[in-house]
Amino acid sequence: MTPRPARPAARRRAMPDGAALMLAADRARARAYAPYSEFPVGAALLLKDGRVVTACNVENASYGLAVCAERNAVFKAVSEGNRDFVAVAVTAREGRGAPPCGSCRQVLHEFAPDMMVYWRDPRGKIVGRKLRYLLAMPFDLKMLKGKR
Ligand code: THU
Repeated sequence: MTPRPARPAARRRAMPDGAALMLAADRARARAYAPYSEFPVGAALLLKDGRVVTACNVENASYGLAVCAERNAVFKAVSEGNRDFVAVAVTAREGRGAPPCGSCRQVLHEFAPDMMVYWRDPRGKIVGRKLRYLLAMPFDLKMLKGKR
């Protein structure tokens, strides 16, 4: 019997930490379209399998149509069949950041209430909190069905 050729070692993707994820968000921020607010934002969503989905904010001459970087990242990921979010890194403002706005917290919560959220504090240090901590009373399916 001819020996079976050794199977190539399973390619394991290294899980990026908060800092690596922030770098991906920084790169996405460079593509932001924010001529009205001049507040470019980048977001990087880490999926359970180690892949990263990035996005930036996209504004419009009709101001109210602007969409945040985080929500663009979620919609991009979900549209591509990915809903298992482990973490998100958000970058805004040179050297100092901002956590996601309330709308984005709600949209992230829909898919991954236990995910980690990373941003930069006013000194530029990366800080992280569980999304649950940042969104104390989400609107969810239980509420919609009158079960809570
Ligand atoms: N923005 C984001 O992309 N994410 C947030 O969490 C907060 C705000 C964007 C929306 C708008 O294009 C600009 O920042 C100023 O509000």
